[in-house]
Amino acid sequence: MKRKEEHVEIALSQDVQNEHNFWGDMDFLHNALPDIDMESIDTKVDFFGRELSFPFIIAAMTGGYDDARAINENIARACAKLKIGFGIGSERAVFREDNVRSYSVVKKYNVPVKIANIGAPQLIDQKNEKALGLEDIQRAIDTIGANFLAIHLNFLQEIVQPGGETRAKGILRAIGKVVSGADVPVIVKETGGGISRPVAERLKAAGVKCIDVGGAGGTSFSAIEYYRAKAVGSEILQHLGKSFWNWGIPTPISLMMVRGMGLSVIATGGVRSGVDIARAIALGADVASVAHPFLGPATKGYRDVVSMLETYREELKGAMFLQGLNSVYELRSAKVLFSGRLKEWRDELGLRNV
Ligand SMILES: Cc1cc2nc3c(=O)[nH]c(=O)nc-3n(C[C@H](O)[C@H](O)[C@H](O)COP(=O)(O)O)c2cc1C
Repeated sequence: MKRKEEHVEIALSQDVQNEHNFWGDMDFLHNALPDIDMESIDTKVDFFGRELSFPFIIAAMTGGYDDARAINENIARACAKLKIGFGIGSERAVFREDNVRSYSVVKKYNVPVKIANIGAPQLIDQKNEKALGLEDIQRAIDTIGANFLAIHLNFLQEIVQPGGETRAKGILRAIGKVVSGADVPVIVKETGGGISRPVAERLKAAGVKCIDVGGAGGTSFSAIEYYRAKAVGSEILQHLGKSFWNWGIPTPISLMMVRGMGLSVIATGGVRSGVDIARAIALGADVASVAHPFLGPATKGYRDVVSMLETYREELKGAMFLQGLNSVYELRSAKVLFSGRLKEWRDELGLRNV
């Protein structure tokens, strides 16, 4: 079985979530007299000049093997219908001419924000693989007809996975080159470790305009790699997988850290409802994004994905109505209350008044 296929198979059959979901440590103040009509609520947002019907992207997951084709097609079709964003999984297999159709199948769907995906380690010469060039990157973009490119940061995963690619020297410079050479906006995306303020500042200095903070609290790639290590009997990597299972900056904390920098911000990591989307927007995200919960529906069919998206949209609307808020932009000034571990992180980092 191929690596991307194993990831999906493990994600569908095992518990691969962080032991704590930090969004649950955040509440809104209920308004018993909303004084607006729910039907008049406007959930539309603008993202780099493109309209999304609500601030949402289905995050990168898969591609490169037979069954990935249906998963990607079901997701892309649903995103086109609901006018929200879609990120394809790592396109590494495209460069190996491996089941390119499982990616290019999404080309025919008119998704307002369609994001190509490559890994940051692929921008550096690794032990067994040369760095990608700008023409490779253009190919990743063209394969799905993307209007954005995500470079994912997954060094947390690389230290746990068998044969992980851990050469990262020169990574910021390599990212900067892609940002200035690519003909679409670049999103630098963490995959569970979160992005701190100093890292966001370095990315901004390299020309990056959009980051996905990809924080801890949702799917744990250490957990996924733990199960892969177990399957091949690697004791050391199993230990690493367990030790780093909950590693990372919680997504809400990452959002608070990067607020007010003039960057566009996507919030991925543990978002599990439309109320969580509202929470992410209240902490400064422009758009929220979800991966794992869509995997099951996407393996079943297009309608299952649509139904889950509609649920998230209705929950977001509900959270806005119960605060008397007419537009997503008003969520930015919503009153939020913190508790538990999220409050501890916030206070330790002195983020109260940011
Ligand atoms: C099965 C699976 C495969 C993934 N593959 C990729 C990938 O290829 N590229 C990427 O940028 N992120 C990948 N991710 C990470 C997600 O995009 C997302 O950042 C992470 O799962 C956290 O979101 P969640 O808690 O909503 O699942 C993958 C996630 C899952 C569950």
